[in-house]
Amino acid sequence: MNVRAHLLGTGSYLPERIVRNEELANLVDTSDAWIRERTGIEQRHRAADGELTSDLALAASKAALKDAGLEGGDLDLIIVATATPDHTFPATATKLQAALGGHGFPAFDVQAVCSGFLYALHVADCMIRTGGTKKALVVGAETFSRILDFEDRTTCVLFGDGAGAVVLGAGPDDGRGVVATALHADGRQHDILYVDGGVSTTQTAGFLRMEGQEVYRHAVTELTNVLLEVMDKAGLSVEEIDWVVPHQANKRILQSTAKKLGLDFNQVVVTIDKHGNTSAASVPLALDLARKDGRIKAGQTLLLEAMGGGLTWGAAVLRT
Ligand code: ACO
Repeated sequence: MNVRAHLLGTGSYLPERIVRNEELANLVDTSDAWIRERTGIEQRHRAADGELTSDLALAASKAALKDAGLEGGDLDLIIVATATPDHTFPATATKLQAALGGHGFPAFDVQAVCSGFLYALHVADCMIRTGGTKKALVVGAETFSRILDFEDRTTCVLFGDGAGAVVLGAGPDDGRGVVATALHADGRQHDILYVDGGVSTTQTAGFLRMEGQEVYRHAVTELTNVLLEVMDKAGLSVEEIDWVVPHQANKRILQSTAKKLGLDFNQVVVTIDKHGNTSAASVPLALDLARKDGRIKAGQTLLLEAMGGGLTWGAAVLRT
């Protein structure tokens, strides 16, 4: 019997502190109007001093486990997608494992920046379908505020902190669960989105640097292509899609991708206005939000997608 990775629960967490556009306009030469118009962002959340990526991940994971009716000890896999880990090593996932009361089973981080959750979902899906994993926790958690240059108006207005988590469980091949995934990377595009520090280069964490227009250009082309690819793999047409749960980098990217695919923008879950770009956390955050507010219902077909530094990009079809 074929095994599939079913969605058992979702959870998310946003730090208490909200940073509105006006506050950033006091720091750099920008305005609420520019940020809203060019990105769709109104506000973002920021982790408190001493609040770590693992803290955000833990809160989201507890909510996802509760939603699934499970406890940390029921898991046999944890993957955390993050580009802002607590430490260079060990993995934030191992810290999370201990905090959730589990031990013994594999726990590791995946680093694909904003596409990290899609990469982690794919790995968990493979481990469930072919590796004997029964219950997997897949988390996207970031504290991007720690790698922002608050003198650079072109980047510091875009990102926020947060975490989202899903619990996947092995189940029958009855149409539910992760139906198809597609992942890509193009390392030649390293310089258009990167952090200018690191362990083996500067021995510092560094700051995020981005050629926004170049990334934008790649995003609208590659995201459309990868969504068509993953729908083709799943044998689905656009008419069979209920919701798109995208990475939230720019509202204009979401609008133009939906238009290119012939999807109604009302079918796109948009959180960028309230969360900004939370990198690997944005897709599971949006998924949790739209499930909990009743938009996403059982038996619906979702398209998940993201593009981030690397460049990396990917998509998945998930049936709830
Ligand atoms: N406030 C006011 N003006 C600004 C700001 C700001 N915050 N930022 C830039 N500007 C100015 C620029 O300096 C420029 O001025 P100039 O014409 O005098 O030179 C002007 O606004 C236009 O700048 P552009 O870069 O052309 O603006 P654009 O419309 O492209 O918007 C943005 C920039 C929002 C970054 C957009 O390009 C974008 O969203 N890119 C994609 C981002 C993305 O998808 N990232 C991937 C995921 S992130 C990750 O993986 C970590």
